[in-house]
Amino acid sequence: MTQRPYHIDQMISAKAIAARIEDLALEIRKTYKDTDKLFVIGLLRGSFVFIADLVRELDMNVEVDFLETSSYGSGTESSREVKILKDLRGAIEGRDVLVVEDIVDTGYTLKAVLSLLNSRKPRKLETIALLDKPSRREVDLKATWTGFEIPDAFVVGYGIDFAQANRNLPYIGSVVFEDEE
Ligand code: IMP
Repeated sequence: MTQRPYHIDQMISAKAIAARIEDLALEIRKTYKDTDKLFVIGLLRGSFVFIADLVRELDMNVEVDFLETSSYGSGTESSREVKILKDLRGAIEGRDVLVVEDIVDTGYTLKAVLSLLNSRKPRKLETIALLDKPSRREVDLKATWTGFEIPDAFVVGYGIDFAQANRNLPYIGSVVFEDEE
């Protein structure tokens, strides 16, 4: 399949992301003030840049692990069935856990992940999403913390891909297909 030509318009700058992460880290720190070691779980692959920046702003003990779920494949259509492709190494029973997601779109991914993790009986389980597209939501769910609410656009950068490209952009940009302009 040939790729439709597109370009990327910057939506959120690297500087704005960094400033927002500083604020979010302070809020997280407050919520987990009695926690000895926070278990931070990144959802692969889209959250890898966000989690790297976020944990470096968290002035507390953290353990980091990753969970990978099946995602959109190489297109922009959401598949509704969420499968676990890579599970955690560590047990979370009795632990204080923070799940880090790149984008909450329909909400199916986060819902499935929370239901799986809750069944493992953590002491506390909160969620943070860098981006939220409320207009796309199909299940009633909101992350505990959200970096930015964005409109219904397909975005890339800062860890987030389109067909496995553009994850290394330092900012968040929206994909503009040139045949739709
Ligand atoms: P949900 O299950 O529909 O909430 O989708 C969540 C996942 O879909 C995110 O973690 C992303 O991996 C992917 N996703 C949703 N919107 C976008 C987008 O605009 N660009 C790239 N990936 C996206």
